[in-house]
Order: sequence, then C-alpha cells, then structure tokens
Amino acid sequence: MRVGGLIQGSDPGDALPVRLRPPRRADGPALHSLVAHCPPLDLNSVYLYLLLTEHFSQTCIVAEDDRGVLGMVSAYLPPARDDVLFVWQVAVHPRARGLGLGLRMLRQLLRRFGMRPVRWVETTVGPGNQASRRLFARLADQMGASMHESALFEAALFGIDARDHEAEPLLRIGPLSLSAVK
Ligand SMILES: CC(C)(COP(=O)(O)OP(=O)(O)OC[C@H]1O[C@@H](n2cnc3c(N)ncnc32)[C@H](O)[C@@H]1OP(=O)(O)O)[C@@H](O)C(=O)NCCC(=O)NCCS
Repeated sequence: MRVGGLIQGSDPGDALPVRLRPPRRADGPALHSLVAHCPPLDLNSVYLYLLLTEHFSQTCIVAEDDRGVLGMVSAYLPPARDDVLFVWQVAVHPRARGLGLGLRMLRQLLRRFGMRPVRWVETTVGPGNQASRRLFARLADQMGASMHESALFEAALFGIDARDHEAEPLLRIGPLSLSAVK
C-alpha cells in the first residue's frame, strides 16, 4: 500500500516507511554492509561502493527508513551504449523483502531525467536466483516489454570463485517506453 511517498505493507505490523534517493558519499559503508546481508550477491570492497556513490550516483538509487539504508540498485550506462541501463546489483535487506521495494527502486531509477535515452535494461542473473529472475520478469511485464536471455559470463570465467559461482547469463529487457514507467 502506498501512503504519500512511502510504502507500507498490507499488514500494519509490516509498515515500512521508505525514502528513495541517489546515494551519497557517506552511504559507502552502509551499502557494503547491506550487500553483506544479501547473498548470493558478490560482496565488493567498501572502496568500490564509495566509487559508486562518487561517480555513479545518478544511475544508482538507495532506499532508507529511519533505521538506515535497506535497499540499493547499482547501475551504470555502459560506454557508447547510452540506450542501455546495466543493472549491476539489486539488494533489499531481508527485513524489507516481499513488499515491492526492489521493483519500486528499479521503476524510480528509470523515471530519472538522466535515464531518458534508455530503452533497454540489461542485467545478469544466475539460473538459481529465482527472486531476482522474478523481479526482472515483473519489471518487463509492468513495462509491457519482453525479456530475452542469452549467454554472457560462464561459471569458469569467475576464476578462483568458479566453484561457488553460477554462470551469469544476460537478461535484456525492452524496448522500453518511459511513458510506461509508473
Ligand atoms: C531479489 C531481491 C532484490 C527482491 O527484492 P524484493 O523487494 O523482495 O522484491 P519485490 O517485493 O519487489 O518483488 C518483485 C517480484 O519478485 C518476486 N519475488 C521476490 N522475492 C522472491 C522470492 N524469494 N522467490 C520468488 N519470487 C520472489 C515477487 O513475488 C514479485 O513478483 P510478483 O509481483 O509477480 O509476485 C531481494 O530478494 C534480494 O535482495 N535478494 C538478495 C540479493 C539478490 O539476489 N539480488 C538480485 C541480484 S542482482
């Protein structure tokens, strides 16, 4: 249920007031900590999350409530392909899952002025990550777009991590019409 700019769960006990905004420098450690709570995402260094806040804040989004950061989408415009938004990591803290926050962050990101040329969303998702696959399938559905899957990063490419890492096929969603973003 939406109340003003906030999301609330249908169960009053699950009330979840959330603010969405671009990340800022001070969020770096909190983003690192959030991803640490979100397997199977790869946890990167705090420095990497600081770079995201410093150089990619216009293509990333965070969700926070009064207890702190509880969601993030990191994304970027691949060089020379400015009609593509590549979504790198989507993380929703376990206490906030199943309330539509992942989908809401993706839609809010697509609404931004800087996203205007974007007609495609690309991401990679392992075959076993049903939550993430469902999330992107739902985004495609809501946008009236199709989702196409193709091979990209096979498991062996993950080097020393290969034994514990699934392949990461590419999901490509589009073509998008921004007027369809609600
Ligand atoms: C994937 C993730 C971001 C989803 O966030 P969320 O806010 O709980 O997702 P939403 O509530 O917006 O749900 C969006 C859709 O995904 C579905 N979904 C969410 N979690 C699911 C799960 N565990 N299993 C199956 N479907 C799931 C929802 O039912 C909804 O689809 P529907 O509208 O058809 O019912 C969250 O589970 C997460 O952070 N997981 C760990 C990190 C990860 O795997 N990130 C994605 C890789 S980039």
